[in-house]
This record gives sequence, C-alpha cells and structure tokens, in this order.
Amino acid sequence: MEQQANIAFTINGKDATAAPGETVLAVATRMGIEIPALCHHPGVEAYGTCRLCVVEVVWGKRSKIVTSCIYTPYAGDRIETDSERVRRTRKMVIELLLARCPEVDILKQLAVEYDVEPGRLPASVTGTWRDKCILCGLCVRVCAQGVRQNAIGYAGRGSERTVTPPFAGKAEGCIGCGACVFVCPTGALHIEDTATERVMVETETRLPLLACRTCGARFTTEAQFNLISARGLIPKKTLYTCPDCRRAETRSRAETLLAVPAAAISTAKG
Ligand code: SF4
Ligand code: FES
Repeated sequence: MEQQANIAFTINGKDATAAPGETVLAVATRMGIEIPALCHHPGVEAYGTCRLCVVEVVWGKRSKIVTSCIYTPYAGDRIETDSERVRRTRKMVIELLLARCPEVDILKQLAVEYDVEPGRLPASVTGTWRDKCILCGLCVRVCAQGVRQNAIGYAGRGSERTVTPPFAGKAEGCIGCGACVFVCPTGALHIEDTATERVMVETETRLPLLACRTCGARFTTEAQFNLISARGLIPKKTLYTCPDCRRAETRSRAETLLAVPAAAISTAKG
C-alpha cells in the first residue's frame, strides 16, 4: 500500500509537519505550544466537546475557527493558536462553562487568563456534584474505550444532560478502577476507601476490597481483580499481592541474586 505523505503547514508562523491523521492539537503539543484542552486525553478518542482548544485556520484573507483536537491540517494551512479571534472565542466558551460550573478551579484560572468578566452570565447551579461536571465525557470514554466496561454514560438532553450509570440505575459494570476519577479534568468525581470497601462517591457504587495475601492491606477491588485475571493481563499469582509487597519481593530476589556473585568474588579474592 502506498504510504501517505506528511503534511506541511505552519503554527504561529513556525513550520510544522503532521503525520497522516495527526491533529493540530497533537502537533502543537509536540512543538511545545500550549492550547487549553479540557476534554482531550491521548488515551481515548477525541470528541471535541469542550471547544476550548479552538484555533484559527487562515487561507489568504479568509479564516475559520476549528477545534484543534479533531482538526487534521491540510498542506499549506496557516494555524494561529492565540489570535484575537481565537481568544475571543475561547473567552466566550469559558464564560459559558463557568455559568454551568462556577466553582471549577481550572475554569477560574482560565477566566483570569482570558479576562472573563465574573458573573456576567447567570450561574445555573444545582447544589450537587454535577455543578463540577463540564460534560466533557472523558470519564464516559475512558470507561468505554480504555476499561471496556461502559459503567457510565450520558442521560438527558440540553441543559438536562448529565453523566450517570446506564438508565440512571446502578453502575453494574463498574470495577472501581478509578480511571474516570483520574481523567476527570475538573475534580468532579471521587473515590473513597473504607476498611473493606471502595466507594465511587458520585455513582454511589460500593465494591468490596481484596486483602493482600502477604501484608493483609486492602489494595484493589474484587471486581477489578476478577476482570484483570479473566482477561489474562497479569499472572494471577502476581495479582494476589499488593504493589508494595510485590516491589519488596522483587527487591529481595534481586538482592539475593546479586549477593551470590559478590560472595563468590570475595571468596575467590580471599
Ligand atoms: S465527571 Fe468529569 S470527566 Fe466526566 S464528564 Fe464530567 S467533567 Fe468530564
Ligand atoms: S479539547 Fe478539543 S474540544 Fe475539548
């Protein structure tokens, strides 16, 4: 098959090259050019929901605003990531997101950076954890594409849209891995471990924790253990011990192996 050629274009006046299918955001990140991108994570498919990553594509006297996390450049594109039009568009996006989630720190920081007038749009808060959710969908995508469990999804439309377990019921497929908490850009999701259970706070999911066979510490959920061993990702024997004990075992094995030649050398020298 014929190999597709790389695409030559410019970002902020600098020469740039994109591999076929590579987005402007990926190229800009590689070049050390910062673009705010709240709904993007390299581990999952881009979706283009937050609209913060907008940039301007200029062709002669014409230009248009595109979403850099899903836009793949054409040869000769002139991309501007911080033009007046880009800043104006991002300012509007931040204002809208802040009206939905006024207490999200990253939005407050961006508001200062983009000179957003505080409180110009009325805030529509609900007094629940959802006031911190910008509906970026990263949690939904990482659960579906990374963990392949689909334990959470969307429900409702327009201003009623929300992130929730399927059919607003229990998160049956949840294994308590915490990938959703890890990728959430706003800190909307939380995990709490009790002595025996992991609680996914926002979906009210409780999962029993498994004890390490060596030290007895609770370190993973039974559901995560079962899934990893069912998929054969790690040998089952290894899974029964917590990461600390596994590290200690590896260290002690390495020390034993190193001690043998050292002892042999000192005996030979003596
Ligand atoms: S909970 Fe977090 S990751 Fe999920 S949609 Fe809301 S902001 Fe995005
Ligand atoms: S990062 Fe591109 S739309 Fe959110």
